[in-house]
Amino acid sequence: MTVRAVPSTENPVDDRRPIVIDCDPGQDDAVALLLAMAAPKELDLLGITTVAGNVPLEKTQRNARIICDLAERQDMPVFAGCERPLKREPITAENVHGDEGIDGMEIFEPETPLHSRDAVDFIVDTLKSADEESVTLVPTGPLTNVATAIERDRSILGGIREIVLMGGAMREGGNRSPSAEFNVLVDPHAADVVFNCGRPVVAMGLDVTHQVLASPERVKNIRALGNPVARAVAGMLGFFERFDKSKYGSEGAPLHDPCTVAYLLEPALFKGKDVNVSVECDSELTVGHTAVDFWHVTDRPINTRWMYDVDVDGFFELLIDRLNRYDRRQYRGDVQDRRDPE
Ligand code: RIB
Ligand code: CA
Repeated sequence: MTVRAVPSTENPVDDRRPIVIDCDPGQDDAVALLLAMAAPKELDLLGITTVAGNVPLEKTQRNARIICDLAERQDMPVFAGCERPLKREPITAENVHGDEGIDGMEIFEPETPLHSRDAVDFIVDTLKSADEESVTLVPTGPLTNVATAIERDRSILGGIREIVLMGGAMREGGNRSPSAEFNVLVDPHAADVVFNCGRPVVAMGLDVTHQVLASPERVKNIRALGNPVARAVAGMLGFFERFDKSKYGSEGAPLHDPCTVAYLLEPALFKGKDVNVSVECDSELTVGHTAVDFWHVTDRPINTRWMYDVDVDGFFELLIDRLNRYDRRQYRGDVQDRRDPE
């Protein structure tokens, strides 16, 4: 059993960055979780909260727990949150991620338990008890949980250092509708709350995530690491790539969500600009569109650092290095060998 260090909000000598990842696994969410759990000296992952998105909530929460098993972090608190958007009808993305959401790796009933508390309660309580501006929220799915927490108790904003999210699009256009990226389209009302909450937001939109493509060569290098985690990641990316290859002709799966964690570990990999991002919530034609005022042509207030460029080779060097830290010996529950005797 992995012994967790005292969270940095309680132990002044602990300079790890306390974070909460709010996600909808999703193969790319899974890679973001595994990247974060391979950085125990830099990041203190206080908990994983899950939300309905790529697949319904009962699968996103199960998938997060499967990933914790894979990382041998059965101690990780995993919470289930909102099962539908604030106002709109739910939409999902099985056409991209498969019926199970993390297709490409073996699905099993995880040992990591689902925490009895609701994800929104965990977010509220964590931020209320945290030191001033100490906790980084890392949303990689629809923003329903985070927005619900903020609307329930705005005093939690004082505990937020930064919100580093995956969502939105500018030059890339939409990936689910002609003008909207999936996470924002699912819950535009929640995205509006988060972008305008008054705390620093760093946004990894499609303009940057579509540069981070897991090409066959890169997937081969990941698989060649040989440990069960790397093999599972290679399997997931091999499945996840087919949608983008057929739609965009791209050379591999875009690693949307891991861009958030990579930014926390090596911010110099990315280039961004401080802008206003506003979310269309009403027009049926463009609902979920993120209007990014990149050239400051309006007097709308700056509310986001919008990322637009990334050192792709540097990103994959980071990912390979971290996945390589999952050791064959460390993980005994290899998903392919789970049924084989020791
Ligand atoms: O549009 C891409 C985003 O939607 C990613 O976070 C993916 O996991 C899905 O949630
Ligand atoms: Ca996601």
